[in-house]
Formats: sequence, C-alpha cells, structure tokens
Amino acid sequence: MRRVTLTQYLLEQQRDAGTIPADLRLLIEVVARACKVISNAVSKGALGGVLGGAGTDNVQGEAQKKLDVLSNEILIEANEWGGHLAAMASEEMEGPHQIPHRYPRGEYLLLFDPLDGSSNIDVNVSIGTIFSVLRAPEGDAVADEKAFLQPGRAQVAAGFAVYGPTTILVLTVGNGTVGFTLDRELGSFIMTAPDIRIPADTAEFAINMSNMRNWGEPVKRYIDECLAGKAGPRGKDFNMRWVASMVADVYRILSRGGVFMYPADAKHKEGRLRLMYEANPMALVVEQAGGAATNGRQRILDIQPTTLHQRVGVILGSKNEVERATSYHSAGG
Ligand code: F6P
Ligand code: MN
Repeated sequence: MRRVTLTQYLLEQQRDAGTIPADLRLLIEVVARACKVISNAVSKGALGGVLGGAGTDNVQGEAQKKLDVLSNEILIEANEWGGHLAAMASEEMEGPHQIPHRYPRGEYLLLFDPLDGSSNIDVNVSIGTIFSVLRAPEGDAVADEKAFLQPGRAQVAAGFAVYGPTTILVLTVGNGTVGFTLDRELGSFIMTAPDIRIPADTAEFAINMSNMRNWGEPVKRYIDECLAGKAGPRGKDFNMRWVASMVADVYRILSRGGVFMYPADAKHKEGRLRLMYEANPMALVVEQAGGAATNGRQRILDIQPTTLHQRVGVILGSKNEVERATSYHSAGG
C-alpha cells in the first residue's frame, strides 16, 4: 500500500488539485511540526514536568495550565520566522501577536487554541490543538484585531490535532476533510483517513448534561427526545458520550457520526466555546466532511465576528441531527 505523508498530500493539493499555493502548504507543514513537538511534550507527562497549573490566568480569566502556556510558545516560535504570516492570535493571548520586523511578513493570519481540553491534561485523557488560517486583508500595514474579524467561511485551511492513544491530525483546505496518524518512528504524519464522511444520521449525542437546568427549551426538547429512546418520538435508543475535549468529541463524530452540542444557556449566555479558534475551524472541518454546524439559529461559518475572543453556541456533526436541533430553535419550542 502506498503510504501518503502529509507533505505528499499537500504537494498534490498544490500541484494537481490547485487548492493551495506553496506558501500556504509550508504554513500548514509548520503548524503540523509544532503539533508534533506538543505531542512529544504531552506524552512525557509528569516525567517532563509539564503537568499542573502555570499560576497565571488567560484573557478570559481561566487558570492556565503549564501545557497551555508551553503549547502557545511552541506554536508561536515555530510560525514566527517562516515568512508566511502577518500575525497570529491565540486563546492564550489578549491581542494579535505581530511577526517581529526581523522576519519577512506573509499573507496569512493564523489562529489557534494551543491546547484544547485543558481540564483533561492532568488526568491523561485526550487533548489537542485547533487551528484556523485566514488571509490577511490587503493593504493593512499592521494585522490588528480587525484584520482577524472575518466569518469562518473565509478560512483557507483549518484543522486540529488530537493527542490521544495515537496523535492524529485532521485537516481541510476546502477540498474535503482528511486525517493523518503520527508515525513516531518516522516522525511523519501518514494519511490514514483520505476522505472523511460523517454519516447524516446518528444515535449518539455529546453534551455536558450537568448544564441541563440552564438549557433553553429547544435543547431540552432535543435531548429529552433522545433520552426517551425507542418508546419516544425518535423511535430509537440513543447513546451518550462526553470527553470534555472538543477535539476528541469531534474526532469521534468524524469517525462514526454523532452530534456535539455546547449551546448557549442561562449560565453561558453567549455559549462556552470560542468562535474564531474553536467553533470556526471545527465547523469547516465538519462541513467539509458532509456534516453541519450551527449556533441553533445560524450557520457557524456565516457569523460575522465582532471580537477576537467571542463565544458562540455550537451544535455540530451529523447533518440530519444538526438540522433537527436547529429547527427546534426556529420553531421557538
Ligand atoms: O476549550 C473548551 C473545552 O475544554 C472544550 O474542549 C470542551 O468541549 C469543553 O470545554 C468542556 O467543557 P465542560 O468542562 O463544561 O465539560
Ligand atoms: Mn479549547
């Protein structure tokens, strides 16, 4: 069997499919390389001294873990000097990080959640990195926050890594969604899922049930109907999974279908997840795999962002289920 590496896949996309220019190819390779470095740090755990809190808070007032800070530094250092970026933005930094003047400035903007699923770091459960690539608006001398405020449909590439039993990289450049597994001996990402398709129907949902008392009526109705099983209006039994790392929950959905929900609710009024570096890249990956992603009322990728760190309600995954849950919102019920 021919083993296709990430580099080969990207070169084919550049040369044959014409979906990406050379500088975007190189940018994605650098992100993937940074993910390998993070994966190594993650796998060392307590032996590498990477577990535990950093003793600092991020811009949203959340306590940072050592690995949040380390992963952010790894991504910045890897991407600063390549000449492909105008600026970077991250969950762990208040404003955009400009490329230092000593390096050439490129055409792209990179956004990332350096370490997704932080609550799982110290308990040895899958975590990951999420990234999104936009084009920098032409003519702007400085890529400030405004330059980043583009709807998700403008992304030219997006993906995520999962640091789990194996390290996985999922990627879209707008030509389907593909998955790679890290071969640690070769140090290469090898394509293991050449054409990811999310089944349109599913009998599996993912939601943090401890928020139930805060949910709005449409979400309550959707979950109640799932819980009612065979005897209920859906006429089938549903299973539930909640890893509490979006990367792992979304990877499961890409692998076998399902619906993932972190809706806006009475406690998380704007939602819990961040639009620009969590919901948008995941929505592109999921749509490119035949799934759907909404905030209950609107396609995630059509939302015009107003701030870098804004939050959003998320319903994503198997198309028919996302459409059903979304229709309950428009029904007002
Ligand atoms: O980044 C936010 C995040 O860690 C996601 O990865 C995950 O889906 C969610 O938060 C978990 O939230 P909770 O702790 O409420 O279950
Ligand atoms: Mn996250």
